[in-house]
Amino acid sequence: MSFEPKIVAMLCNWCSYAGADLAGVSRFQYPPTTRVIRVMCSTRVEPSFVLKSFLNGADGVLVGGCHLGDCHYVTGNYYTIGKMNMARKLLKYAGIDEKRLRLEWVSASEGEKFASVVTDFTGELKELGPLGEETKNSLALRAAFNVSLKPRIRILATKERMLTVEGNKYGEIYTPYEFDRISDGIVWDEINEEKIRLLLQQNACTLLEIAEKTGLKKETVFLYLMDFIKRGEASFRAVSYTHLTLPTKA
Ligand code: FES
Repeated sequence: MSFEPKIVAMLCNWCSYAGADLAGVSRFQYPPTTRVIRVMCSTRVEPSFVLKSFLNGADGVLVGGCHLGDCHYVTGNYYTIGKMNMARKLLKYAGIDEKRLRLEWVSASEGEKFASVVTDFTGELKELGPLGEETKNSLALRAAFNVSLKPRIRILATKERMLTVEGNKYGEIYTPYEFDRISDGIVWDEINEEKIRLLLQQNACTLLEIAEKTGLKKETVFLYLMDFIKRGEASFRAVSYTHLTLPTKA
C-alpha cells in the first residue's frame, strides 16, 4: 500500500483557513492528507505545537498565515517566522528533517495556491517517507518537546525579530548569524540537559550509560551531572568515575 502522509495544518483564521475553504468551494483537487486546526493568527502556533504533532504521529506540519504586512494583528506573522525558526532548530536536534515543517503565506483569495502547497508538501513527504516509530518515541524528540515548553526558549523564539531587526534596549542589533549562533548554543545545552533529566527520571543511570544513550562524551555528561547535583536535582549513590550512579531525585 502506498504511503499517505499525515499532515497537521495549523492555519490562521483570516487568511490561510479561508484560502483552504475557498480551495474546497472552488473544487480544486488536492490530496486528503491534511488535518486542519484553525488558529486566530499564525503566531499562535508555538514551537511546542509542532513538536507535539510529531510526537503524536504526524509526518509533516504545515503552518499557514497571511502574507507579511497583511496580518490581522499587524506584526503577528513576523513573530511566526522566529517561532518556526526555533521549531526547526528543535527538530534538527531531535533528528527530524526540517523539510517536514513548512511555513506558507496563503491569502483568503488564494484557494488554488493552498491546493498546490498541500499537493507539493504531500509529494515531498512521500519522498521522505514515514517518520518512523523509532523517531516518534526517541529520547531526543521527547527532550526537544520538553525544551520547547521552557520559558527561556519561548522568549528566545519571540525575541528573534526584536534582536535582529528592532534592536534591544541598548540599541544593539544582532545579525541573523550572531542570533543563530547564540540560540543554537542555548538550545543544544537545554536539550542535552533535558535528555539527561529524562534518563534520570526513568531509572538510576551510570555515567557511562548516560553518555552512551545521549551520544555525549563522558566528560561532558560529568559536567552536566555536576550542575544537576549543585541544583539539588540529583545526588551520587556511589562515588566511582566509571560506575557513578544517580538516583532520580536528591
Ligand atoms: Fe493571519 Fe496573523 S492573522 S497571520
